[in-house]
Amino acid sequence: MSDSWAQAVDQQELAAVTLGNLHLGDEKSKPPGSPTKLVVPPLEPPEEKGEEIPKTDTNGVVNNGDSPEKPEDDDKEDRAAQSLLNKLIRSNLVNNTNQVEVLQRDPNSPLYSVKSFEELRLKAQLLEGVYNMGFNRPSKIQENALPMMLAEPPQNLIAQSQSGTGKTAAFVLAMLSRVDPAHKYPQSLCLSPTYELALQTGKVIEQMGKFYPELKLAYAVRGNKLERGVKIQEQIVIGTPGTVLDWCSKLKFIDPRKIKVFVLDEADVMIATQGHQDQSIRIQRMLPRDCQMLLFSATFEESVWRFAQKVVPDPNIIKLKREEETLDTIKQYYVQCNNRDEKVQALCNIYGAITIAQAMIFCHTRKTAGWLAAELVKEGHQVALLSGEMMVEQRAAVIERFREAKEKVLVTTNVCARGIDVEQVSVVINFDLPVDKDGNPDNETYLHRIGRTGRFGKRGLAINMVDSKHSMNILNRIQEHFSKKIEKLDTDDLDEIEKIAN
Ligand SMILES: Nc1ncnc2c1ncn2[C@@H]1O[C@H](COP(=O)(O)OP(=O)(O)OP(=O)(O)O)[C@@H](O)[C@H]1O
Ligand SMILES: [Mg+2]
Repeated sequence: MSDSWAQAVDQQELAAVTLGNLHLGDEKSKPPGSPTKLVVPPLEPPEEKGEEIPKTDTNGVVNNGDSPEKPEDDDKEDRAAQSLLNKLIRSNLVNNTNQVEVLQRDPNSPLYSVKSFEELRLKAQLLEGVYNMGFNRPSKIQENALPMMLAEPPQNLIAQSQSGTGKTAAFVLAMLSRVDPAHKYPQSLCLSPTYELALQTGKVIEQMGKFYPELKLAYAVRGNKLERGVKIQEQIVIGTPGTVLDWCSKLKFIDPRKIKVFVLDEADVMIATQGHQDQSIRIQRMLPRDCQMLLFSATFEESVWRFAQKVVPDPNIIKLKREEETLDTIKQYYVQCNNRDEKVQALCNIYGAITIAQAMIFCHTRKTAGWLAAELVKEGHQVALLSGEMMVEQRAAVIERFREAKEKVLVTTNVCARGIDVEQVSVVINFDLPVDKDGNPDNETYLHRIGRTGRFGKRGLAINMVDSKHSMNILNRIQEHFSKKIEKLDTDDLDEIEKIAN
């Protein structure tokens, strides 16, 4: 199994070397530390990619600053707009209650299912875990992927399903089903592209496995230090590529030859040359030939899709058509501005709404994120800031506070574009549109970013800030790519804003 993967990777690596953009894995060793349990002290530089890295400040949570100094009339207008939006968005959330059930009966919905969890042949302990999480019926991806993943002999799978449709539960159930609790060594391994996502997925594993206490989980993430010579006894490992690679090779905490299931969440970014390819592949090469490989993502750009099929032997495939990739439950708008300051103003005009529900605001660089957070603070708002250069303990704290809605607004970069699941996020703002390193539209990142709202049948709003002809062009190309109209929104016009929530 590893051979064809290795061959395809060699080809890609060769291509990458030729292009001069090969990223080799971080071989830095980590100092010895305490036993297997999650600790999150401040540590090394970030593992994630996909964020531009200017030299910049490193704030954690940004708290209230001075009050805004604005003419009274403006204030009144803003307040009127804000309270209206608040009302609309609140009622939107209330109206959502039965949405999931309705969608699960609509054959065109990604949440549709004909089967029940019972029919998916899950172990009793896992079924109990599923129901304990409040899941009544499987989603389409769960219904389709689980029988393939649990079949004997094990089969490989490359699966695509829209954001927020329950991919995590699908592969977590497969990981939990395949391990033998009698064996005290890692048997299921999952890689996540970011620290925050690894922690989140770990929590899902813990919740799903709650009634299967013999199964244990280890977090292979930065900050979790083990003593040298330790052999991990936990049967399941969730981690980020750099740390997992260290644990498998240099530190030998994990014997990769005993892994039976290997999951790549956000698989496209894990195998793309611009993503974590080198590390994922070096890990994959250490796994046994008959290790089951499961690749999941909401997006697979064409070349990555071809690569995935080349490196995963005889895979089952679940693929979306382009027009199915976007969710109708997420409404998409753009706001026309002339510069950065106007974008901040437009943001402030809709800010009342996004402080009630929760919002994520995406910037292209850490520098802009830091600047914008500071601007919003100057306007008297309370926001949180999360970007990749922050220390891991800070990052964990920021995302936790945001999850608990202690901050209603999170200003961030692509580090939070994928996978993060915060149900109450009702608005996503692209303060900067997502572009790749060549300045072309990054359609995949666009889809992941807007997918932070509209989770599992919830409705959501995505608002894009356009500030130049160039960014208008990017927006148009994104519209064309998904064949999906992004409506113009005039943030000074109350009637227009009203339409948003209907
Ligand atoms: N069968 C189900 N019934 C009800 N809720 C579910 C079900 N499956 C998953 N969920 C919930 O749906 C939400 C989204 O799930 P998840 O994070 O796995 O989405 P995803 O497909 O991985 O999305 P993304 O592409 O953004 O990573 C989670 O809060 C999860 O608890
Ligand atoms: Mg996910």
